[in-house]
Formats: sequence, C-alpha cells, structure tokens
Amino acid sequence: MKMLIKEISNIVEDQFEQSGYDRKYGTVSISNRPDLCQFQCNGALPAAKQYKKAPMQIANEILEKLKKMEMFQDVSVAGPGFININITDHFLAAYVNKMYNSEKLGCIEASDPKTIVIDYGGANVAKPLHVGHLRSAIIGESLKRISKFMGHNVIGDVHLGDWGLQIGMVISELRRRNPELPYFDETFQGEYPKEAPFTIDELEEIYPAASKLAKSDSAAMEESKKATTELQKGRKGYVELWKHILNVSVNDLKKGYGNLNVDFDLWKGESDSQQYVDVMVDYLKDNNYTSESEGLLVVDVSKETDTHTIPPFIVLKSDGSSLYSTTDLATIWERVREYNPDQIIYVVDKRQDLHFEQVFRCAKKTKIASEDLKLEFIGFGTMNGKDGKPFKTREGGVMRLQDLIQIIKDAVKDRLKENKSIENKEINEIARKVGLSALKYGDLSNQATKDYVFDIERFSSFEGNTGPYILYTAVRIKSILRRIADEGFQYADKINTPYSDIERSLFLKLSKFNEVVELSFTDKAPNKICDYVYDLASTFNRFYHDNKIIAEENINKKASWINLISLTMKVLETSLDLLGIETPERM
Ligand code: ARG
Repeated sequence: MKMLIKEISNIVEDQFEQSGYDRKYGTVSISNRPDLCQFQCNGALPAAKQYKKAPMQIANEILEKLKKMEMFQDVSVAGPGFININITDHFLAAYVNKMYNSEKLGCIEASDPKTIVIDYGGANVAKPLHVGHLRSAIIGESLKRISKFMGHNVIGDVHLGDWGLQIGMVISELRRRNPELPYFDETFQGEYPKEAPFTIDELEEIYPAASKLAKSDSAAMEESKKATTELQKGRKGYVELWKHILNVSVNDLKKGYGNLNVDFDLWKGESDSQQYVDVMVDYLKDNNYTSESEGLLVVDVSKETDTHTIPPFIVLKSDGSSLYSTTDLATIWERVREYNPDQIIYVVDKRQDLHFEQVFRCAKKTKIASEDLKLEFIGFGTMNGKDGKPFKTREGGVMRLQDLIQIIKDAVKDRLKENKSIENKEINEIARKVGLSALKYGDLSNQATKDYVFDIERFSSFEGNTGPYILYTAVRIKSILRRIADEGFQYADKINTPYSDIERSLFLKLSKFNEVVELSFTDKAPNKICDYVYDLASTFNRFYHDNKIIAEENINKKASWINLISLTMKVLETSLDLLGIETPERM
C-alpha cells in the first residue's frame, strides 16, 4: 500500500508537471496548521523563482486543476502562494479501509530485503546483568523488530563479553580458593568433572571479589592477565573451566533477558571469533597493513582529514593475546563469512564511539569489510538517576537489572490493585507487562543518543506520555470489544466515512502508520514510534470520550465504530510490539 502522503504528493506532482513545471515542486506535507487544512504544498514559492512568475499565479494554476479532482475538497491558496489541501472523507475512509484489510496494516515490506546483523545486549559473562546493559537490550530489540517487520532478514546477536580479563580474574580467584581442583594441574590427564565447581550465586560473589583484589594488588592483576592469555592460547584446564563459567552464566543471562522479553537469534560471543584470529593476522601481515609499535601489532587508521587524533588500531598485544579490538575485528571477519550481511548495526554505549570508529576504519581499510558492507554504530546515552549521575542503588552500588524490574513492578502494582476486576492470580503477570512498558517506553521515547533521567513516578504513571497510558488505551479498546462480543453483535466489514471532526482526526492519525514505521526504520529511531502511539492514543481517547460506542443505537454506525476501534487497537498493539512491549488483556 502506498503511503497516503506519497499518494497525494504524486497527484499534485502530476499537476505541476502537466502545467509545465518541474514535478519536484508538487511535494505535499502534513499541514502544520491542522486547524486550517490537512495537507499543504509550498512548491509554488520556489517554482516562482525558477520560472520567474508570481507564486500566486502558479498556485492558482495548480489550484484550478486540483479543484476538478474528486479526491480533494476545500483546496485553497493562502498567504503568498501556499496550497492548502483537504481530502474528501470518502477518499480518506477508502484508505483506512484498505489499511484495515491489509496484512501489515498498510506497511510496505522492502522490495530488496537486506541481511542485517544487529549486535546488541552485549552482557559480560560472569557478571550479573546490570542497568548499563538495559538500554542496549531495549533499543536493540526494538530495532530488530522494526527491521524484521519491514521485511529484512535480521540476525540479532547478543555478542557476549566472554573472552576478556574478567574471565582471567575468575580463574585466578578460583585458583586461590581451590588450588586442588584438576583445572589448575597442568599434568592432569584424566577427565574433568561435568559439574561446574560453583553455582551462579557463587560466581556472582567470586567476580566482584576478584576484581576488587586485582585493583589493589598488582600481583593479583598480573596473575589475572596471565590466566587470560593462557586461556586464549588454549590451556586445557582453563578452557574447561571457562566452559563452566560460560554455561552457568549464559543460563542465568537467558533468564534475565527472557524476563525483559528480549531474545536473540544468536548467543555468540567474543570467543567465537578466536578461531579466525590467526588467519586474519596472517592476512593483515601479508598485505602489509600492520606495523609494530611498542611491541603491539597495530594498523594505522588515521586520516589526513582528521581534526582529532585517532590512535592506531591494536590487533594483538605483545604476548600475542587478544583485546576487545581484536575480537571485534575478528567478529566482522567471522560475520562476513558466516552471514554475508549487507549491514552490521552495533547498539552500544556512546562512550565506546572511538573504539568503533577505529574498528570500522580498520575493517574498511584492510578490506575485511567490503565497500558495500555498511557498519553503523548506534551509541546510546546514559540512564541517570535524579541526581543527574548514572543510575545507582540507594547504597551507591551497581543496580542489578532484576532488582530494577522488581522496583518498577511494585510501582505499578498498587495502581493495578484499584481495578477490582483483576484477579489475584493474574496481578503479577500484568504488573510485569505494565512495569516493563513503563521501563521500555521511558527509555525508547527518548532519542537514543541522549542521556535521560530514570523517573519511576513519571514512567509508571497511567496518565501522560508513558507506556502504561498507551497500554491502558489498548486495553480499554480490548474491553469494549469483549463486551461487544458478549452482546453477540454482528460485525459489518467496513468503516464508514467519519461522523465528526475528532473521528476524522483519528482516521488521519491511523493512516500515518506505514509512514512512521518506515521512518523509524530508516532513521533507526524507535522514539518516532513512541511519538506516534502517544498521538494516536490521545486522539483515540478524545474520540472515545465524545462517543458512546456500546450504547449507540444506529447499528450501521456502531458497526463502523467497532471496526474503527479494532483497527486502532491493532495499530497500537503492533506499534507496542515493535517497541518490544506486550499488551495485557486487562489492567
Ligand atoms: N560487552 C561489551 C560491554 O559490556 C559490549 C559489547 C558490544 N558489542 C561489541 N561488538 N563490542 O561493554
């Protein structure tokens, strides 16, 4: 289905062309004065310059043609030569009906689907999920859903941090605590135990202890680094221990992301690229891309046009071990070979922008990424507390994601208890959905690059521009539809032309859905969907307050309204789903 705005534009463009002007002047946009008209075309002004005529003359010429067309009504010229356009209710209703009968609510799938890898989540093994990983998960999940909805072949990869120093820290801490374990005995020939020598709770205590020690004790730090290098070189006992760490941790992470309703197509990590490091390094050396600098193997990625210094990209450390840069470059090498993507999108904290600038430059310069492969970094801002500093627990520690979800669930629960139709046994599940909507919408409604303040009272409020408000609107429609179904009301299959101004506004909002989804995809901006659903929900609520749908006696009118509100519900629910938000049946 063509976008409504494009359909109108094309028609006006035709009129410009037929009158001897360039079509480009016929572009139509949504009116910024909805009190005056629905759409406007301002092309007569620049056209006047080119054709050396008065703008009014051109505008009137076009106006005469538009007046003869069935689909328009009340077209007029205003000011120095703006064309104000309204479409007939008949035309508008026909569009909304087409949308109602279309599988994807009027959205147009890409004609040339791309393979897109989205690298998001990025949790680190052996450390619990914390709020720092929240934004990546929420934004990445939404981008994945939007891209899939647009018909692309999307691969979401959690890209776990599973190959870095934290693993070395855990290994050396375990060694201090249980030196007798076979993993530390280099002469050990037998079979290693199947059971991990720790539980997830123990692991969560081991890592912080090890990290604290390494910070104050340089010998412990050296030991951790050595263990990391030995693991990467394939020391058998350490590899076995690492597998245990990975297993225990990934099980827990799967639960954590599951609770957030975030899921990945791939559960790969930094370590998966290790098998490509040797070939990649040979390739880089053979093609003279590398040089040595203070024992490090580097690639110069600076450009003459740089206004600030971009340090060399480090391929390997002097002892041959991998760094974060190594695994990221080798992961591009791996992804190119395994998935042949058109695009890789990284959803990572914006403080890592220099790192990704280096990775991308290096991948392009060395042709590990071909010219056609689009590498895109979506750097997000920080979620702050009310003090304007990164969000922390009351004690000043790192807030665990699980605890954060609990806090927001509790915040919406009291409000939910006011609704007596909610049974006790369902309240937890509803609170989970509503709480997550508060959290996710609070995040996604901001532009990703911006920092924002986590404001629990505002996010969890049932009024205003919040997740719960949008959910509440969708749930309100669901409840009307349930009552209608109980009545045994017979559905007609058509939406009539609007009966009032507010109903017409609702039609116009609905008809924008395909445009908004496409824009949120091209701009990688879920916040555009948030703006849209809020606008749609508010318009619907105004319509709802003005009309008694269930009590309406005119059967034809009532049937049309029921279709209209069920379309509204579908658009709300689909938009929310694109944001990764589930809609409950009641709340
Ligand atoms: N594990 C990293 C971190 O916690 C994020 C990973 C982002 N993805 C990537 N390909 N580097 O900072």
